Amino acid sequence: MNEYQVLNRANWDERAAAHAASKDYRVAAFADDPAHLSYVVRFDLPLLGDIRGLRGVHLQCHIGTDTVSLARLGATMTGVDFSPASLTEARRIAELAGTPVEYVESDVYHAPDHLGRGGFDLVYTGIGALCWLPDIRRWARVVAQLLRPGGRLFIREGHPVLWALADPLPDGRLELDLPYVEREEPLVWDEAGTYVETDAVFAHNVTHEWNHGIGEIVSAVLTAGLELTALEEHDSVPWDALPGQMTEIGGGEFRLTDRPERLPHTYTLQARRPL
Ligand SMILES: C[S@@+](CC[C@H](N)C(=O)[O-])C[C@H]1O[C@@H](n2cnc3c(N)ncnc32)[C@H](O)[C@@H]1O
Repeated sequence: MNEYQVLNRANWDERAAAHAASKDYRVAAFADDPAHLSYVVRFDLPLLGDIRGLRGVHLQCHIGTDTVSLARLGATMTGVDFSPASLTEARRIAELAGTPVEYVESDVYHAPDHLGRGGFDLVYTGIGALCWLPDIRRWARVVAQLLRPGGRLFIREGHPVLWALADPLPDGRLELDLPYVEREEPLVWDEAGTYVETDAVFAHNVTHEWNHGIGEIVSAVLTAGLELTALEEHDSVPWDALPGQMTEIGGGEFRLTDRPERLPHTYTLQARRPL
């Protein structure tokens, strides 16, 4: 493994149990209500449509709350992640939900080696997935390899403009401060916390991350041989991305409080492997 994979995996392994125990992921609701779906998948539903009977793979599935939700919508789901601790939680959650999901430990870039090529009707990913990958073109080639002819990619992700922002200024102005386009060098962060409310204390805090511009993502998808079928930008994001500057608007979504029209918060991109 490369240095970035070792660092990032240790970071995710350490946080998985705290995420599963947090109120933010609402794990107990899967056991309490057999129809419960994650907020993320509920937001996706109008664009996702009917996925009953599809064979789907969720790349970078983490603790699998979205994977289980997709399975509950009738797809036969496989979740892929390189963090064994995340998959331990994901298997436990699928069990308590009573919703069968297959989980496979793999780096995203090696997923076709484990899952075969051309076997999936649906590749689903996003919400904090692409920022962990140094090369967006390589990711798009993996997606194309996993899809059968006619199969679709569905990704809702944090917008690269959002990822490029500095912490908001006291007067509410937004400042582009970090790379918007992909660069070879990672952004190196050293952050003790995580994005859920937790008292857990972590030791593995250094991560390596990358941004990818919308043009780069679209070009990577097209160059990999997929057809772009939809690209929508949204004015909300399913985590408190700019603490102190966002308002929770319901459904697990957050929006910039002051003039949210300035910021594309997230986007949904859909593509299809030609027949
Ligand atoms: C924020 S989660 C995204 C999942 C989902 N949206 C969620 O919030 O639960 C990011 C996941 O990406 C995984 N990950 C990061 N880099 C990876 C890589 N190179 N290969 C496979 N998984 C990776 C991490 O282990 C983590 O579980």
